Amino acid sequence: MTTFNIKIEIRRLQLDELAASDLRIVEEAKAMTAHSYAPYSHFCVGAALLLSDGSVYGGSNQENAAFPVGTCAERSAFFYASAQKPDVAPVAIAIAAQTEGRFTDVPVSPCGMCRQALLEAETRFGTPIRVLLYGEEGVYVVASIRDLLPLTFDGSELGS
Ligand code: THU
Repeated sequence: MTTFNIKIEIRRLQLDELAASDLRIVEEAKAMTAHSYAPYSHFCVGAALLLSDGSVYGGSNQENAAFPVGTCAERSAFFYASAQKPDVAPVAIAIAAQTEGRFTDVPVSPCGMCRQALLEAETRFGTPIRVLLYGEEGVYVVASIRDLLPLTFDGSELGS
């Protein structure tokens, strides 16, 4: 038997410890929670993507009466950015969530589908996307989407 152990590094920082560009997208993600359409879950998520040219694109979760039709904040921000600047690499994404009028203490982490969506950009551009998860207790920082999705399916097996 062979056992593989996977280790990931999650750093928890306070807002005043963040680089200016990271702080900017964390604040944008927090602001984007106000644009959420979440009449079913009442869980308002905001995301903001920083591209390599310095531009920032925000998104929020958009729900639907037919539940699976709704979209998470992360994919909303990512697809919005990609639709505007298809050839500019994303370098970081920040996520924040509010429920009952206050931000969560512990950060909210992207769902598997959003991780897979963002992995596509990491693979395509060959550069990591830093993940910044805001909570009242601090900001969790992970160096790449790949860290959050071990044993990735990135299309390399498709042979095309
Ligand atoms: N949601 C996000 O937008 N991002 C996440 O990382 C977790 C979940 C949304 C989807 C749905 O609108 C609501 O939060 C409850 O799951």
